[in-house]
Amino acid sequence: MTGKELREKYINFFVSKGHKQVSGKSLIPENDPTVLFTTAGMHPLVPYLLGQEHPAGKRLVNYQKCIRTGDIDSVGDATHLTFFEMLGNWSLGDYFKEEALAWSYEFLTSKEWLGIDKKKLSVTVFEGEEETGVPPDTEAIEIWKKLGIPEERIYMLPREDNWWGPAGETGPCGPDSEMFIDVGKAACKADCKPGCSCGKYIEIWNDVFMQYNKQKDGTYEKMARPCVDTGMGLERTVAIMLGKKSVYDTEFFIPILKKIEQASGLVYGTNEDKDISMRIIADHVKASVFMIGDPNGIKPSNLGQGYILRRLIRRAIRHGRKLGVTGQFLSLPAGVVIEMYGGTYPELLEKKDFILKEIEIEEERFSSTLAKGEAEFEKMVPNILKGKERVIPGRLAFRLYDTFGFPIEITQELAAEHGLTVDTQGFDEAARKHQELSKMGADKVFKGGLADSGEITTKYHTATHLLHKALRMVLGDHVQQKGSNITSERLRFDFAHEQAMTPDEIKKVEDIVNRQIEANLPIAMELMSPAAAKEQGALAFFENKYEEEVKVYNIGDFSKEVCGGPHVERTGVVGKFKITKEQSSSAGVRRIRGELV
Ligand code: SER
Repeated sequence: MTGKELREKYINFFVSKGHKQVSGKSLIPENDPTVLFTTAGMHPLVPYLLGQEHPAGKRLVNYQKCIRTGDIDSVGDATHLTFFEMLGNWSLGDYFKEEALAWSYEFLTSKEWLGIDKKKLSVTVFEGEEETGVPPDTEAIEIWKKLGIPEERIYMLPREDNWWGPAGETGPCGPDSEMFIDVGKAACKADCKPGCSCGKYIEIWNDVFMQYNKQKDGTYEKMARPCVDTGMGLERTVAIMLGKKSVYDTEFFIPILKKIEQASGLVYGTNEDKDISMRIIADHVKASVFMIGDPNGIKPSNLGQGYILRRLIRRAIRHGRKLGVTGQFLSLPAGVVIEMYGGTYPELLEKKDFILKEIEIEEERFSSTLAKGEAEFEKMVPNILKGKERVIPGRLAFRLYDTFGFPIEITQELAAEHGLTVDTQGFDEAARKHQELSKMGADKVFKGGLADSGEITTKYHTATHLLHKALRMVLGDHVQQKGSNITSERLRFDFAHEQAMTPDEIKKVEDIVNRQIEANLPIAMELMSPAAAKEQGALAFFENKYEEEVKVYNIGDFSKEVCGGPHVERTGVVGKFKITKEQSSSAGVRRIRGELV
């Protein structure tokens, strides 16, 4: 079983059950300022789960690249990854528990599909709770029993285990039912069961019964139209199908680990500590390649997504040093990631040079301070060892960050190697006092928020379409969107263009956008095939490989673009547009920041 085969099987199975395949989306959500990365297949679909009509209908299936950094401490074990692919099927107010569970079971156990031994399968269901008034999921239990799972392998668990979502603070969520494979290890304790982290039971699929839309004030509003959201981890499932002990022993990692062996002169599988470092490097490099090479790609920086990327690259470098690698080495594993995934994700091949260059620049930048920072750290240790608390004070951790570029987890790892911990609260406080860092909040943003297609971001979204067209009018048709990012404070737009814009060009673009706003143009959406959209000259930037129909937004007769929305109804409400910055983003790509005032 290969990744390619599993993707195909999954898609084919659900197509045979009346689903339409849709394309996975960017790893970096464009119009959702409240999360940094796409963390699950459901994330790009939130507006549709909440009631918007999807052009492909009510039953969807896809594969989606995802990034999760919440589990970063577990990366290197048998199953946790920063970057992974999720297979998913959705019911947008169509089928519910009965079909969802029956199809999951059929796909997992039928000889025609995965043919997993039924006896190895355990499932969990929600035990119910007062907070939401959701009763125990006896319905799911009955369905599982009917399908053939004996009662002793059906476990009832609380919210912590059997409730999914929202992806952030608000949005769709509900009780779920998870499927586990018993990999045959001995039980770690008498009541070892699914949900235990010892590695005996591996979760491979999660069927979420989305019944609630969690509100900002913490209350749960019943969804008018309950939905199903399911997710199967691609790498885990392939590892299980092949009887491998971990995701690292599969095609998803072996070629990357080989390059790390080459760079370090070590052999994977001979020393547990070194294996963990090798796994961490492989995982972090892969995630970094996908972040930089995304259609909406990013570069290492001290803010938001860019800071997560920086942390991954820097942590990989440090683990390289632990393996005894002295020079720059990350482009070796990074290059092989591009080769491995270029067929499925062609954006990586298109951006190959850019990806490798950005990784090299960051490696060069950090290599020069890493050794100095480590020496500084070693100097602190004896004093701290003398103290009773054995804690690195926050201000020292912050100094390592500020002067030597040490992300907090590097300091934590160094500390752990000496049996010390770090006062992370003190670090946050020191960071808060530091003006630039106060904006960072990366971890918080990462945990919080869901597609809050709020009023302001919707206005920015419409302004982005106006800007895009205006740029093409002023600079020429070579202008193409290379990336877009919207927060409630500004828009950011990257586009293909060689030279810096002149003040006169900037003024012209602003004027054109503002004239369309003053004209109060109506915005209309139509559905059509991607071919028809192309024929009509609609701008389209992300591939919609699998869609039969796409949404095309027309702003009066001024602009026509393929886009998921949402947009305002008329341009008049957008406000006055101003370009606040125009700068280079990468070779041949300019970046504009704009505000609505
Ligand atoms: N959203 C659910 C999960 O991530 C199902 O895909 O587990």
